[in-house]
Amino acid sequence: MDLMEFQAKELFAKHGVATTLGVVAETPEAARAAAEEMGGVTVVKAQVKAGGRGKAGGVKIAKTADEAESYARDILGMEIKGLTVNRVLVTPATPPVEEYYFSFLLDRSNRSHLCIASVEGGVEIEEVAKTNPDAVKKIRVDALEGVTPEKAAAIVDEAKFPAALRDQAIEMVQALWKVYVEEDATLVEVNPLARLEGDKLEALDGKVSLDDNASEVRHPDHEQFEIREEADPLEAKAKDKGLNYVKLDGQVGIIGNGAGLVMSTLDVVAYAGEAHGGVKPANFLDIGGGANAQVMADGLDVIINDPQVKSVFVNVFGGITACDEVANGIVGALKILGDEESKPLVVRLDGNNVEEGRRILDEFNHPLVTQVDTMDGAADKAAELAHQA
Ligand SMILES: Nc1ncnc2c1ncn2[C@@H]1O[C@H](COP(=O)(O)OP(=O)(O)OP(=O)(O)O)[C@@H](O)[C@H]1O
Ligand SMILES: [Mg+2]
Repeated sequence: MDLMEFQAKELFAKHGVATTLGVVAETPEAARAAAEEMGGVTVVKAQVKAGGRGKAGGVKIAKTADEAESYARDILGMEIKGLTVNRVLVTPATPPVEEYYFSFLLDRSNRSHLCIASVEGGVEIEEVAKTNPDAVKKIRVDALEGVTPEKAAAIVDEAKFPAALRDQAIEMVQALWKVYVEEDATLVEVNPLARLEGDKLEALDGKVSLDDNASEVRHPDHEQFEIREEADPLEAKAKDKGLNYVKLDGQVGIIGNGAGLVMSTLDVVAYAGEAHGGVKPANFLDIGGGANAQVMADGLDVIINDPQVKSVFVNVFGGITACDEVANGIVGALKILGDEESKPLVVRLDGNNVEEGRRILDEFNHPLVTQVDTMDGAADKAAELAHQA
């Protein structure tokens, strides 16, 4: 789960990272009241899970409470990278003297954690990485050792933080590591990490991604960060039904049983799509072991309601749940959905009781259902149908 800035800052504050929380406002009037309360110059910042808010006009400095209200009126309802702004964060303005970049993230390919730090201006970090790569330090963090005080000092020195900020930076790096480890995050990013007047170091922005695998058991408290209306409606629906669903960008809906099979299904569909106008998989959906009618119907219901989906590929390998049960599940699902099911379905069954499964579907003889015996063949057919639609 990706957090919004104000949520990230709450976790920062919890673990002792210097930051200013501010007030979240959902109306211009509330933004005005917050600014009035703070007095002086404030910053009004769009809260959306997208980068580049400043450039999109979503971060404004307001000299008066009147201005804060009018900026909030502009920013609320604005679209940034396709996301509607439903709330703004109002904080006292603390003009940065210098801006730095700092992050911890999970480096899967190297099976370790990675720290990225740069004292060369924070906001345009991607640009700095291109034009002056030496200014962006990448420091491996051993998963078992973590960030000790010595490691924090080494990071700060390698990144060349100014001497006047060295002690604060060492503390900040350790506190950010605490956020990363104790909250089970896969990303903790501060951009800009600012040097304020009077040589104070402060996180002016924050971005945190939490590891969902840790949420249920280790962090029931993270549920508070879920903002229902901000979630993708299809993902929210899938979650309600207990489905393992991730929305992707393509046109071929995918249903499979077992994460490994579904992952390889995504690959074969992407490959097959190259010959059919570049169509791609539309989602990841693992219906797991119990592929009964209801689960199948729930899965199909989510997928066919994705307007991008043009065809659906059901790829099931019968194991404990044998193919005949899966076939009955598909038949049951199509009956449950009735006329709602309007997209072509390519079904590939293999494994336990495959003949009986195929016979059931043959006999059902639904106009939208095509059976193909092999995974590659079925992927090709599904891609072809998606391309034709
Ligand atoms: N409290 C503040 N006081 C003064 N200026 C601020 C404050 N917060 C942010 N700014 C200025 O606004 C700029 C952009 O802020 P911020 O990093 O929060 O948004 P962004 O970088 O545009 O968004 P994103 O991080 O989503 O790409 C900062 O680089 C900083 O110069
Ligand atoms: Mg930023």
